[in-house]
Amino acid sequence: MTRTYAAVSNKGGAGKTTLVTLLAGEYALRQERVLLVDADNRQNLSGWWRLCNEKDNVPDHIDVTVASTQRSIEAAIKDRGDMFDIIIIDAPGVDSSLQTTIIRSSQLVISPIQPAIKELEAAGQVVAAVNDMNDQFDLHIAHFNVRTRISVPARNLEAYRYIRPFIAGLVAADYRTALLDTELFERNIYREIQNGLGTLQMQDLTETVRKARVEVQALVDEIEQRRASLKLGDAA
Ligand SMILES: Nc1ncnc2c1ncn2[C@@H]1O[C@H](COP(=O)(O)OP(=O)(O)O)[C@@H](O)[C@H]1O
Ligand SMILES: [Mg+2]
Repeated sequence: MTRTYAAVSNKGGAGKTTLVTLLAGEYALRQERVLLVDADNRQNLSGWWRLCNEKDNVPDHIDVTVASTQRSIEAAIKDRGDMFDIIIIDAPGVDSSLQTTIIRSSQLVISPIQPAIKELEAAGQVVAAVNDMNDQFDLHIAHFNVRTRISVPARNLEAYRYIRPFIAGLVAADYRTALLDTELFERNIYREIQNGLGTLQMQDLTETVRKARVEVQALVDEIEQRRASLKLGDAA
Protein backbone atom coordinates (compact mmCIF):
# COMPACT_ATOMS: atom_id res chain seq x y z
CA MET A 1 0.00 0.00 0.00
CA THR A 2 1.15 3.51 -0.74
CA ARG A 3 2.38 5.26 2.36
CA THR A 4 2.12 9.00 2.86
CA TYR A 5 4.56 11.08 4.83
CA ALA A 6 4.52 14.84 5.38
CA ALA A 7 7.10 17.40 6.45
CA VAL A 8 5.27 19.84 8.71
CA SER A 9 6.32 22.80 10.83
CA ASN A 10 4.49 26.06 11.33
CA LYS A 11 7.73 27.85 10.83
CA GLY A 12 8.92 28.99 7.41
CA GLY A 13 12.57 28.18 6.82
CA ALA A 14 12.53 25.24 9.25
CA GLY A 15 14.01 22.90 6.64
CA LYS A 16 10.91 21.09 5.36
CA THR A 17 11.56 21.36 1.65
CA THR A 18 15.20 20.39 2.08
CA LEU A 19 14.17 17.36 4.13
CA VAL A 20 11.61 16.34 1.50
CA THR A 21 14.12 16.41 -1.38
CA LEU A 22 16.72 14.50 0.64
CA LEU A 23 14.23 11.78 1.60
CA ALA A 24 12.87 11.57 -1.94
CA GLY A 25 16.33 10.99 -3.38
CA GLU A 26 17.10 8.24 -0.89
CA TYR A 27 13.79 6.40 -1.30
CA ALA A 28 14.13 6.64 -5.08
CA LEU A 29 17.60 5.15 -4.84
CA ARG A 30 15.99 2.27 -2.96
CA GLN A 31 13.78 1.71 -6.01
CA GLU A 32 10.67 3.16 -4.46
CA ARG A 33 8.43 5.26 -6.71
CA VAL A 34 8.14 8.63 -5.01
CA LEU A 35 5.45 11.27 -5.54
CA LEU A 36 6.24 14.64 -4.01
CA VAL A 37 3.33 16.95 -3.33
CA ASP A 38 4.16 20.65 -3.12
CA ALA A 39 1.43 21.95 -0.82
CA ASP A 40 3.22 25.23 -0.13
CA ASN A 41 2.08 28.04 -2.37
CA ARG A 42 5.56 29.54 -2.17
CA GLN A 43 6.38 26.61 -4.48
CA ASN A 44 9.98 26.05 -3.45
CA LEU A 45 9.71 22.34 -4.12
CA SER A 46 8.16 22.73 -7.56
CA GLY A 47 10.67 25.50 -8.27
CA TRP A 48 13.45 22.99 -7.62
CA TRP A 49 11.69 20.52 -9.89
CA ARG A 50 11.32 23.07 -12.70
CA LEU A 51 15.03 23.89 -12.48
CA CYS A 52 15.89 20.18 -12.49
CA ASN A 53 13.90 19.85 -15.70
CA GLU A 54 15.52 22.89 -17.27
CA LYS A 55 18.99 21.67 -16.39
CA ASP A 56 18.26 18.11 -17.45
CA ASN A 57 18.75 16.75 -13.95
CA VAL A 58 15.43 14.94 -13.55
CA PRO A 59 15.82 12.12 -11.02
CA ASP A 60 14.53 8.63 -11.78
CA HIS A 61 11.55 7.30 -9.80
CA ILE A 62 10.44 10.76 -8.63
CA ASP A 63 7.57 12.94 -9.77
CA VAL A 64 6.40 16.24 -8.33
CA THR A 65 2.91 17.68 -8.33
CA VAL A 66 1.56 20.97 -7.00
CA ALA A 67 -1.49 20.75 -4.75
CA SER A 68 -2.01 23.64 -2.41
CA THR A 69 -5.70 23.30 -1.63
CA GLN A 70 -7.44 20.70 0.46
CA ARG A 71 -9.29 19.35 -2.55
CA SER A 72 -6.22 19.11 -4.78
CA ILE A 73 -4.16 17.36 -2.10
CA GLU A 74 -6.85 14.77 -1.55
CA ALA A 75 -7.27 14.35 -5.31
CA ALA A 76 -3.52 13.94 -5.88
CA ILE A 77 -3.38 11.17 -3.28
CA LYS A 78 -6.52 9.46 -4.51
CA ASP A 79 -5.91 9.70 -8.25
CA ARG A 80 -2.15 9.24 -8.43
CA GLY A 81 -1.25 7.49 -5.19
CA ASP A 82 -1.64 3.98 -6.57
CA MET A 83 1.18 4.55 -9.03
CA PHE A 84 3.66 5.31 -6.25
CA ASP A 85 5.11 3.51 -3.25
CA ILE A 86 5.49 6.63 -1.18
CA ILE A 87 3.99 10.11 -1.25
CA ILE A 88 5.79 12.90 0.59
CA ILE A 89 3.92 16.15 1.17
CA ASP A 90 5.82 19.40 1.63
CA ALA A 91 3.60 21.52 3.87
CA PRO A 92 3.41 25.32 3.97
CA GLY A 93 5.04 27.08 6.91
CA VAL A 94 1.83 28.34 8.42
CA ASP A 95 -0.75 26.82 10.67
CA SER A 96 -3.84 26.60 8.49
CA SER A 97 -6.73 24.31 7.75
CA LEU A 98 -4.54 22.93 4.99
CA GLN A 99 -2.22 21.59 7.66
CA THR A 100 -5.10 19.58 9.09
CA THR A 101 -5.73 18.02 5.68
CA ILE A 102 -2.04 17.22 5.25
CA ILE A 103 -1.70 15.61 8.66
CA ARG A 104 -4.91 13.64 8.27
CA SER A 105 -3.73 12.30 4.92
CA SER A 106 -0.44 11.03 6.35
CA GLN A 107 0.75 7.97 8.23
CA LEU A 108 3.86 9.80 9.37
CA VAL A 109 4.51 13.48 10.02
CA ILE A 110 8.09 14.68 10.38
CA SER A 111 9.01 18.08 11.82
CA PRO A 112 12.47 19.50 11.23
CA ILE A 113 13.87 21.40 14.19
CA GLN A 114 16.77 23.82 14.05
CA PRO A 115 18.52 24.66 17.29
CA ALA A 116 16.37 27.68 18.20
CA ILE A 117 13.54 28.11 20.69
CA LYS A 118 11.04 29.29 18.05
CA GLU A 119 11.64 26.07 16.14
CA LEU A 120 10.86 24.01 19.20
CA GLU A 121 7.62 25.87 19.76
CA ALA A 122 6.63 25.21 16.15
CA ALA A 123 7.40 21.50 16.46
CA GLY A 124 5.47 21.36 19.74
CA GLN A 125 2.42 22.77 17.96
CA VAL A 126 2.64 20.08 15.30
CA VAL A 127 2.93 17.39 17.98
CA ALA A 128 -0.27 18.72 19.55
CA ALA A 129 -2.04 18.90 16.18
CA VAL A 130 -1.12 15.30 15.28
CA ASN A 131 -2.15 14.00 18.69
CA ASP A 132 -5.45 15.89 18.62
CA MET A 133 -6.20 14.37 15.26
CA ASN A 134 -5.36 10.88 16.50
CA ASP A 135 -7.63 11.29 19.50
CA GLN A 136 -10.45 12.88 17.59
CA PHE A 137 -10.59 10.38 14.74
CA ASP A 138 -9.04 7.34 16.39
CA LEU A 139 -6.04 7.40 14.03
CA HIS A 140 -2.44 6.24 14.49
CA ILE A 141 -0.47 8.94 12.75
CA ALA A 142 3.13 8.86 13.90
CA HIS A 143 5.18 11.97 14.54
CA PHE A 144 8.97 12.29 14.47
CA ASN A 145 11.22 15.28 15.05
CA VAL A 146 14.49 15.59 13.20
CA ARG A 147 17.19 18.04 14.14
CA THR A 148 18.55 19.93 11.15
CA ARG A 149 21.16 22.58 10.31
CA ILE A 150 23.28 21.20 13.11
CA SER A 151 26.93 22.11 13.36
CA VAL A 152 29.58 21.36 15.95
CA PRO A 153 29.30 24.85 17.52
CA ALA A 154 25.48 24.66 17.39
CA ARG A 155 25.63 21.66 19.68
CA ASN A 156 26.86 23.94 22.43
CA LEU A 157 23.85 26.22 22.17
CA GLU A 158 21.36 26.17 24.96
CA ALA A 159 18.56 25.78 22.41
CA TYR A 160 20.22 22.66 21.02
CA ARG A 161 20.63 21.09 24.42
CA TYR A 162 17.02 21.87 25.19
CA ILE A 163 15.65 19.86 22.22
CA ARG A 164 15.93 16.42 23.81
CA PRO A 165 14.36 17.33 27.20
CA PHE A 166 11.65 19.29 25.39
CA ILE A 167 10.61 16.23 23.37
CA ALA A 168 11.02 13.99 26.42
CA GLY A 169 8.63 16.32 28.25
CA LEU A 170 6.04 15.91 25.51
CA VAL A 171 6.40 12.12 25.64
CA ALA A 172 6.09 12.19 29.43
CA ALA A 173 2.87 14.16 28.96
CA ASP A 174 1.59 11.24 26.85
CA TYR A 175 2.05 12.84 23.47
CA ARG A 176 2.89 10.42 20.72
CA THR A 177 6.14 11.75 19.23
CA ALA A 178 9.83 10.87 19.08
CA LEU A 179 13.14 12.59 18.54
CA LEU A 180 15.20 10.89 15.85
CA ASP A 181 18.80 10.16 16.79
CA THR A 182 19.99 10.96 13.28
CA GLU A 183 20.61 14.66 12.72
CA LEU A 184 21.02 16.58 9.50
CA PHE A 185 24.06 18.79 9.58
CA GLU A 186 24.31 22.26 8.09
CA ARG A 187 25.74 21.41 4.65
CA ASN A 188 26.26 23.58 1.58
CA ILE A 189 25.38 20.66 -0.66
CA TYR A 190 21.86 20.59 0.81
CA ARG A 191 21.45 24.18 -0.33
CA GLU A 192 23.16 23.75 -3.68
CA ILE A 193 20.91 20.97 -4.95
CA GLN A 194 17.96 23.37 -4.66
CA ASN A 195 19.36 25.12 -7.76
CA GLY A 196 18.12 22.33 -9.98
CA LEU A 197 20.98 19.87 -9.48
CA GLY A 198 18.60 16.96 -9.01
CA THR A 199 18.83 14.95 -5.80
CA LEU A 200 21.75 14.64 -3.42
CA GLN A 201 22.01 11.04 -4.54
CA MET A 202 22.71 12.11 -8.15
CA GLN A 203 25.77 14.21 -7.25
CA ASP A 204 29.34 13.09 -7.91
CA LEU A 205 30.59 11.23 -4.89
CA THR A 206 33.03 13.77 -3.44
CA GLU A 207 33.95 13.53 0.23
CA THR A 208 31.33 16.14 1.19
CA VAL A 209 28.63 14.37 -0.82
CA ARG A 210 29.62 11.05 0.68
CA LYS A 211 29.21 12.39 4.22
CA ALA A 212 25.83 13.85 3.36
CA ARG A 213 24.74 10.58 1.75
CA VAL A 214 25.71 8.59 4.85
CA GLU A 215 23.66 11.00 6.96
CA VAL A 216 20.56 10.74 4.78
CA GLN A 217 20.84 6.95 4.53
CA ALA A 218 20.97 6.76 8.32
CA LEU A 219 17.93 9.04 8.52
CA VAL A 220 15.83 6.88 6.19
CA ASP A 221 16.98 3.70 7.96
CA GLU A 222 15.98 5.15 11.31
CA ILE A 223 12.60 6.38 10.03
CA GLU A 224 11.74 2.98 8.62
CA GLN A 225 12.98 1.08 11.67
CA ARG A 226 11.00 3.26 14.02
CA ARG A 227 7.89 2.95 11.88
CA ALA A 228 8.24 -0.82 11.90
CA SER A 229 8.57 -0.96 15.69
CA LEU A 230 5.60 1.39 16.13
CA LYS A 231 3.53 -0.95 13.99
CA LEU A 232 4.54 -3.92 16.13
CA GLY A 233 3.57 -1.89 19.19
CA ASP A 234 0.18 -1.09 17.66
CA ALA A 235 -0.50 -4.72 16.94
CA ALA A 236 0.34 -5.78 20.48
N1 LIG B 1 20.60 20.99 6.79
C1 LIG B 1 20.73 22.13 6.08
N2 LIG B 1 21.97 22.57 5.73
C2 LIG B 1 22.10 23.73 5.04
N3 LIG B 1 21.10 24.51 4.65
C3 LIG B 1 19.84 24.12 4.97
C4 LIG B 1 19.59 22.92 5.69
N4 LIG B 1 18.25 22.81 5.86
C5 LIG B 1 17.70 23.88 5.27
N5 LIG B 1 18.65 24.68 4.74
C6 LIG B 1 18.45 25.98 4.04
O1 LIG B 1 17.60 26.79 4.84
C7 LIG B 1 16.66 27.48 4.05
C8 LIG B 1 15.25 27.08 4.48
O2 LIG B 1 15.09 25.67 4.27
P1 LIG B 1 13.78 25.06 3.60
O3 LIG B 1 14.02 23.60 3.47
O4 LIG B 1 13.41 25.81 2.37
O5 LIG B 1 12.73 25.34 4.77
P2 LIG B 1 11.12 25.33 4.72
O6 LIG B 1 10.70 24.46 3.58
O7 LIG B 1 10.73 24.76 6.06
O8 LIG B 1 10.68 26.75 4.57
C9 LIG B 1 16.97 27.12 2.60
O9 LIG B 1 17.78 28.11 2.06
C10 LIG B 1 17.74 25.80 2.71
O10 LIG B 1 18.65 25.64 1.65
MG1 LIG C 1 9.43 24.86 2.04
